[in-house]
Amino acid sequence: MDSKTRIGFIGGGKMGGAIAGGLLSRGVAEASRIWVSDTAKDRLQELKDLYGIHTTTENQTVVKNADILILAVKPQVMGPVLKGLSGAVGRSKLVISIAAGIPIAFLEGHLGKGVRVIRTMPNTPALIGEGATALARGSHASEQDLETARQIFNAVGQTVIVPEEQLDAVTGLSGSGPAYVFIILEALSDGGVRMGLPRDTALVLAAQTLLGAAKLFLTGDKHPGQLKDMVTSPGGTTIAGIQALEEGGLRAAMIRAVEAATLRSQELGKAK
Ligand SMILES: NC(=O)c1ccc[n+]([C@@H]2O[C@H](COP(=O)([O-])OP(=O)(O)OC[C@H]3O[C@@H](n4cnc5c(N)ncnc54)[C@H](OP(=O)(O)O)[C@@H]3O)[C@@H](O)[C@H]2O)c1
Repeated sequence: MDSKTRIGFIGGGKMGGAIAGGLLSRGVAEASRIWVSDTAKDRLQELKDLYGIHTTTENQTVVKNADILILAVKPQVMGPVLKGLSGAVGRSKLVISIAAGIPIAFLEGHLGKGVRVIRTMPNTPALIGEGATALARGSHASEQDLETARQIFNAVGQTVIVPEEQLDAVTGLSGSGPAYVFIILEALSDGGVRMGLPRDTALVLAAQTLLGAAKLFLTGDKHPGQLKDMVTSPGGTTIAGIQALEEGGLRAAMIRAVEAATLRSQELGKAK
């Protein structure tokens, strides 16, 4: 992808808008080369004012003006949206879907023969440029297409490439994961309050501790076990806390949470 590549969004809601904003702020694309279509005119005006990008209520106009199409509508309207695009999207365009639970076969089936599709699963921290996105390649997309899609999602966080069948597990881990972490955040601060800290103080300490610990891992080369050992002195405070966590079954609860969400994602997929 170069700076001349034209990117079109079908759906300019929370996710579409966040990705467009990320592309602009990271200098991956120019505003004059980004098009967005949406049914909500006030949202289009907001995006135009915010980013200076082209907007339209016609999805076909976006298709005409884009080399890469990002499908960012809710899964329940994907069927009608694809019907409206069928025949208009040829092999010259790369189509990237962010819709949860919509299989590549469904996208390829609706878009027509040979269309290059990438399916992705981002998560809500993409809204502030700290997303975790997994990408899976469709049957007609190339390695280069995957790289192009990766470049786009690197503008709103970190990316990994997986085979499509692993996207349910991705949903169970990073898709649903922010909710698990919010519970940990709340619980950690409850602990602080239990021990006499004001709620505001406890929440800031808990949130910064989660952020700092994640950054220590992501920016270094140490396994989480090594990082844990570095703060766990013999007979000290941390090992006493860790024993309480293990007795409470936190590790098993996390594994079960990802398992349960993955199974639910598989179940919802089968219902489609
Ligand atoms: N939010 C997340 O954390 C997250 C995470 C992973 C994946 N996703 C996926 O991202 C996609 C978008 O989610 P979102 O949170 O950004 O939803 P959203 O804020 O509701 O954005 C979707 C936008 O598409 C518009 N739209 C509806 N029908 C349309 C049509 N026929 N043509 C063009 N635009 C249309 C909607 O307008 P109206 O408001 O007028 O309906 C809305 O502005 C979903 O498929 C979701 O599964 C989201």
